[in-house]
Amino acid sequence: MDKVQHEALLSSLEDAGQLEEYKQSYDGYQVGLIPKILGTFLVTCGNLVYGHEPSYGKFKAVEVIARIPYQSWEVASYMLLTMCYSNEKKAIELSKTSRFGRASQDNETMHVVVFSQLAKKYGQDGFIRHTLIPLLFSFGYAAASFILYLFSPKSALQLNYLFEDHAFAQYTRYVETHAEELRSRPILSDFLEFYGRHPKSEYEFFVSVKNDEIIHRNMSAHRADEL
Ligand SMILES: [Fe+2]
Ligand SMILES: [Fe+2]
Repeated sequence: MDKVQHEALLSSLEDAGQLEEYKQSYDGYQVGLIPKILGTFLVTCGNLVYGHEPSYGKFKAVEVIARIPYQSWEVASYMLLTMCYSNEKKAIELSKTSRFGRASQDNETMHVVVFSQLAKKYGQDGFIRHTLIPLLFSFGYAAASFILYLFSPKSALQLNYLFEDHAFAQYTRYVETHAEELRSRPILSDFLEFYGRHPKSEYEFFVSVKNDEIIHRNMSAHRADEL
């Protein structure tokens, strides 16, 4: 899925019925033991450092880390293509993950750029908890994602399914509990303009990010099943 397809799907998910149907198609998706262990570790670490309840600071940290697997998969796919280009079927498979990774890391980059501005605006951008820890964690996570993808792309995609499922749940909770407040807050961001999104309020922005995450979740499971 490229950016144009992603944005078209995102628009269709503004309809509550369509969103529910899309979400249900991969609710309860069964992952393997390795992704389950790693996914539980990731979510537990996040809750320990940032608390169970979502906040601007927690979203910023989540988004720093969310880009990493997509970047790793793209690099790994390109590397494997150096060896597998003569196998057309394999080249198509690798290019599909690469295309998905490219569009998704750009999307996650937009999330982290905007959330870092919001976290700063609302005083939730402590240097150690919201900048240093996510940065250091990203180095280890990049290496782990890359290695996991090389040895078991299915496990890598399934681990991301769990991460994105958690992100979607956190955004959903925040939107439900802070709807009024979010609706009253306008959002201004040069990066959003540059990316091509034009939400009028933080509410519209949060809803679009929430639905980005369900697309990432479902696409990860879909790609895992195709492998
Ligand atoms: Fe995100
Ligand atoms: Fe995501």
